[in-house]
Amino acid sequence: MRPPEDCRRCALCAGRTNVVMPDGDPSSPIAFVGEAPGAKEDAAGRPFVGSSGKVLNQLLEEGGLPRERVFITNTVKCRPPNNRAPTQAEMDACLPCLESELEGRKVIVTLGRSAARDLLKRDIVMKDEVNRPTKVTIRGKEIVLIPAYHPAASFYNRTVKDSLRETIRVARTYLEG
Ligand code: URA
Repeated sequence: MRPPEDCRRCALCAGRTNVVMPDGDPSSPIAFVGEAPGAKEDAAGRPFVGSSGKVLNQLLEEGGLPRERVFITNTVKCRPPNNRAPTQAEMDACLPCLESELEGRKVIVTLGRSAARDLLKRDIVMKDEVNRPTKVTIRGKEIVLIPAYHPAASFYNRTVKDSLRETIRVARTYLEG
């Protein structure tokens, strides 16, 4: 299920330029779920094309999972004002789209707390759960979910890139296993 270009399911429609649809390989067994589009993504209509995307692309390439081979999406498809986190109501409105995007995948990597909360239905303390695979049920089927830091966190903390390298390594063991 795709949101229509004129989607009005939540109030984010008022400020967006584009509905930001997923990118990468639509049939990839692995999906990366970010929080929400930022200004660059809103303008381009593609997820992770700004500075977070640069970090993500570099780490994916380095880890042997280039961007073209993975599926990349966000909890919400429209940019929240002032880059605030999406509200629960906004994520709920977009959840049917997200679930249809994730259905049947082998591994889901959530990037940041919003994406983890949206799919796990609970708040997480990132440092306690990062890179610890768990499972979520999407449309009746269990899928491995790996909570990871958001690439933007690497701008403020130098250890985050190493943690994301580990995320990709762990994800690959599930993909290949
Ligand atoms: N941050 C996100 O969470 N998603 C994007 O698409 C870009 C930045």
